[in-house]
Amino acid sequence: MTVLVTGATGTVGRQVVRHLLGRGAKVRALTRDPAAAVLPAGVEVVAGDLTDAGTLEPAFDGVTAVHLINFGGGYRPLPNGEEIVDLAVRAGVRRASVLVGWQEGTLEAAVRAGALEWTFLNPVQFMANFLVDWGGPLRAGDLVREPYGDRKSPPVDESDIGAVAATVLTEDGHAGESYHLTGPEVLTARQMVAIIGEATGRSLRFEELTPDQVRQEWSIPGRRPDLSVFRVLGQAASSGAADPVELLLQLYGTPNEYGTTLTDHVERVTGRPPRTYAEWAREHAHHFRAA
Ligand SMILES: NC(=O)c1ccc[n+]([C@@H]2O[C@H](COP(=O)([O-])OP(=O)(O)OC[C@H]3O[C@@H](n4cnc5c(N)ncnc54)[C@H](OP(=O)(O)O)[C@@H]3O)[C@@H](O)[C@H]2O)c1
Repeated sequence: MTVLVTGATGTVGRQVVRHLLGRGAKVRALTRDPAAAVLPAGVEVVAGDLTDAGTLEPAFDGVTAVHLINFGGGYRPLPNGEEIVDLAVRAGVRRASVLVGWQEGTLEAAVRAGALEWTFLNPVQFMANFLVDWGGPLRAGDLVREPYGDRKSPPVDESDIGAVAATVLTEDGHAGESYHLTGPEVLTARQMVAIIGEATGRSLRFEELTPDQVRQEWSIPGRRPDLSVFRVLGQAASSGAADPVELLLQLYGTPNEYGTTLTDHVERVTGRPPRTYAEWAREHAHHFRAA
């Protein structure tokens, strides 16, 4: 079987590719820029843009299962989900995993209504976000400065998302399921910084900023940190919603059930417990060591 992976050069997509290869699947990877893709040997890399269905026909040729992302450039939901699903069905694709996220677009509805055997993957915050958020400050110093240090989340290892996707794409029994993918434990931001400290053998500090400090400091051009959440919130802001800093304060400052809910879905699908933050931090410790 050939499995097409969209978003294959992304955080989750690279893990989907890795786990599919581990299962012996033949993998085709879609990217807008094959020259920059840098994917493992054995992966067939094809050019295509999800926002332009005319470029996708060769990518679907001979494919029996597809991993789909629901966004195009800049995390905007895809406007042409129906076209993509039609193309897949006409090409003979049977099965799809769909990485869903922040905002539902046209793809989810088209997948639900179409003839593919679908499985939705709805992960919480990826552990990889902390490479973006804290890699810079912790290589440059020993301090994370953020609001709401006691905010809770059950972050999931992106490798587990890839493992779930590879399983549902290659095994029966997951059609029509929506999996809510979490890690094995609820952690606060402070606890995660401490875990990175243990993994790196460093004494790291967390300084809690008040909302007013955040408003003052992060509104100065060049002073706003490059947090992963701003990538998505910036998208919301550019579509007419509130300022990204206010959105972040609202998001971090409002406890919600996703922050404290653990599921067994990773284990149910893969047969093993989700990876812990400590395991992830040990594996990525080199990103958090002083430069
Ligand atoms: N970060 C989190 O904590 C979190 C939590 C839950 C859900 N999510 C969801 O996860 C998704 C982000 O996944 P990720 O972090 O793995 O993404 P990512 O690392 O930012 O990678 C983006 C991928 O999308 C591909 N892509 C973008 N526009 C494309 C287009 N027009 N045509 C074809 N490919 C395109 C890129 O491929 P090329 O550049 O190679 O073309 C790249 O492989 C979002 O939907 C988000 O809402 C994120």
